[in-house]
Amino acid sequence: MQIYDLIQKTRRCEKLTREEISFLVNGFTENQIPDYMMSAWLMAVCCQGLTDEETVSLTLAMRDSGACLDLSGIGEITVDKHSTGGIGDKTTLLIAPIVAACGGFVPKMSGRGLGFTGGTIDKLESIPGFSVEMPVPEFIRQVKHIGCAVISQSGNLTPADKKIYALRNLTATVDSIPLICSSIMSKKLALGADCILLDVKYGNGAFMKTTEEAGRLAETMVRVGNLAGKRCRAVITDMNAPLGHAVGNALEVEEVIAVLQNQNKNVLSDLALELSAHMLELSGKGDLQTCRKMASEAVTSGKALEKLAQMIAAQGGDAAVTEDTNRLPKANCQKIYKAEKDGYLSGIHSEQVGLACLELGAGKTASHSEIDYGAGVVLLHDIGDEIRKGEALAVIHGASETLCEQAEYRLRQAVSITEQKTESISLIHKIIS
Ligand code: URA
Repeated sequence: MQIYDLIQKTRRCEKLTREEISFLVNGFTENQIPDYMMSAWLMAVCCQGLTDEETVSLTLAMRDSGACLDLSGIGEITVDKHSTGGIGDKTTLLIAPIVAACGGFVPKMSGRGLGFTGGTIDKLESIPGFSVEMPVPEFIRQVKHIGCAVISQSGNLTPADKKIYALRNLTATVDSIPLICSSIMSKKLALGADCILLDVKYGNGAFMKTTEEAGRLAETMVRVGNLAGKRCRAVITDMNAPLGHAVGNALEVEEVIAVLQNQNKNVLSDLALELSAHMLELSGKGDLQTCRKMASEAVTSGKALEKLAQMIAAQGGDAAVTEDTNRLPKANCQKIYKAEKDGYLSGIHSEQVGLACLELGAGKTASHSEIDYGAGVVLLHDIGDEIRKGEALAVIHGASETLCEQAEYRLRQAVSITEQKTESISLIHKIIS
């Protein structure tokens, strides 16, 4: 088999066989295919696409490039969730305890921040003592006994994705549906949960900018998941404004705790309850209506908050943060960002808010940089709210006055206030089963 011929076949839209795709993936993972040849093939995929069958072959070859977990020791139907990433997306920290409090089982491996988007693992590490590393047998034991565990991606899962993703990042080949699908689904399949809920984001703070693109990605991922024998569903959700009010690691944990303490009812809590209900339904806990009721009761009864405390304690963290959020890291400085005119809040550009937080130190700008866990932004209003000039719109948390001032400049670009009232956004656009 010649790599040159395979590149040419994809470039000419001729279908590759399963063996040919495995040959490419294995050869590249084992350093037998040079970066320049793999880059050429990835670019051909970006330009010409792949058939569903080819995408399944690519996903399975990437899944099989490393270890696959055997979750059978949990002895229950397990359900995983994946979000394609966004600003202020802390839903994993909500759905894991909510679903577990309803009798579901959530084994979750999450990632760190990527670019201007935050990562669940960084958020969890803002809880003093919390460990995101755990041997697999312990991970399985925790899910079996508590119902949920969230850890970082294990080193030997999908090495092909690690190598291919790094190359895509350097060769402008990230935003291709078959490549995103195979990257995400290979990791989900290697983790091995029985059911997978995909939260596919669209908008200015997401990889997919339109509902059409997000829909195509969601359909492909659900098809690939089903063909691989998993119960899969996708929910397409809006990422044109940050999700919830807090952006930044400890600030997001604080918001999660407020939701689970019943203090915050907004689009974030609505989305978390809806995603939890779909996860419970996928794992056979009842019809969607019943699961919605179960999820909602888990929050109002305080059982989901208790579950979060159990999970934090089991992973070595300070569970008392669930009662006293002052125990979370705090930034040195706080600055109020005030409205410059009267009107209605009509937009909060997620990417700009994400960049403001990145510059405040809430994410890494270089591999050696340190995260400031207390840094970030707390928005004080929702889209559609009437605003008065001089009113506080956000609180900026940073290590210094200078950093907060820089973030304020970004926020000015992010916030739109108009004379006309804009309808508040409906977060869920579509469900794909
Ligand atoms: N997240 C992933 O894991 N892979 C992609 O390709 C895009 C988002």
